[in-house]
Amino acid sequence: MNFEIIPLQELDAAALAHLAALHSAVMPTLLADLGSSVVARYYEIAQKEASVVGLCLVADSGELLGLALGSPDPAALNAKLRQPLTWFAAQMLRLALTHPRVLFQLAQSVLSASNVNILQPGQLELTYIGVAGSAQGQGLGKSLLAAFLAAARTAGYQSVVLSVETDNPSALALYTRLGFSIAKTFREGQYHRHRMEFSLSQAKI
Ligand SMILES: CC(C)(COP(=O)(O)OP(=O)(O)OC[C@H]1O[C@@H](n2cnc3c(N)ncnc32)[C@H](O)[C@@H]1OP(=O)(O)O)[C@@H](O)C(=O)NCCC(=O)NCCS
Repeated sequence: MNFEIIPLQELDAAALAHLAALHSAVMPTLLADLGSSVVARYYEIAQKEASVVGLCLVADSGELLGLALGSPDPAALNAKLRQPLTWFAAQMLRLALTHPRVLFQLAQSVLSASNVNILQPGQLELTYIGVAGSAQGQGLGKSLLAAFLAAARTAGYQSVVLSVETDNPSALALYTRLGFSIAKTFREGQYHRHRMEFSLSQAKI
C-alpha cells in the first residue's frame, strides 16, 4: 500500500475530525470514552503544542489510516482540556447524565496514576499510536513508529517511553520489534502495564 506520513500540524479541521474518529475507533482509551468532542479538542490542543510530536499516516486515496502522538508532559496536555471552563463543565455534565461510569473511571485514573509515569528531562512519552483495523498487520505500525522515533530525535528528545497493557500482544510485538525494552512492570488501578523505553542515541531507527 502506498502512503505518506505527515505531521499532525498539517491537518485541517476536517482531517482533524477524521483523526478523532480514528482514535475513538482504534483505541478504546479513557479519552475515547469521554466522547468525540473531547477527543477532537484533545487533538486540536496537541496540534498547537510545540513540544508535541504528532504524525499521521495517510493512504494515497487520502484515507487517514494511522496516528502517533507523543508529549514530554502528557498530564499538562490533558489539563488543557479543562479550558474553556464552560465547555469542560458542559462535557462533565453530559457524561454525568449519560455515562456516569466514565466519570468514575476518570477520577480513578487521576487518583491511581503511578509514579512510574513521571518523565525525566529529555524524555518523550508516546501517548497514543494506532492503525485503522482494516490496515493492521501490513507493516504500517512499524513505519509509523519508526517515523515517530526519527521525528522525536530530530526534535531533540533523548528517549521515548510508553506504557502498554501486558495483554496487548500486537502493541508489545510492535514496540519490541522496533527495539523498545521493558523497564518496569506495574499495576495502575485495574491495569497491569509495562513501562518501555527506547534510547534515541541508538544508531538504528
Ligand atoms: C499496535 C498497532 C499500532 C500495530 O500496528 P500494525 O500496523 O498492525 O503493526 P505492523 O503490521 O507494523 O506489525 C508490527 C510487528 O508486530 C507484529 N504483530 C502485529 N500484530 C501482532 C499480534 N497480534 N501478535 C503478534 N505479533 C504481532 C508483526 O508481525 C510485526 O512484526 P514483524 O515485522 O516481525 O513481522 C495496531 O495493532 C493497533 O492500532 N492496535 C490498536 C491500538 C493499540 O493497541 N495501540 C497501542 C496502545 S495505545
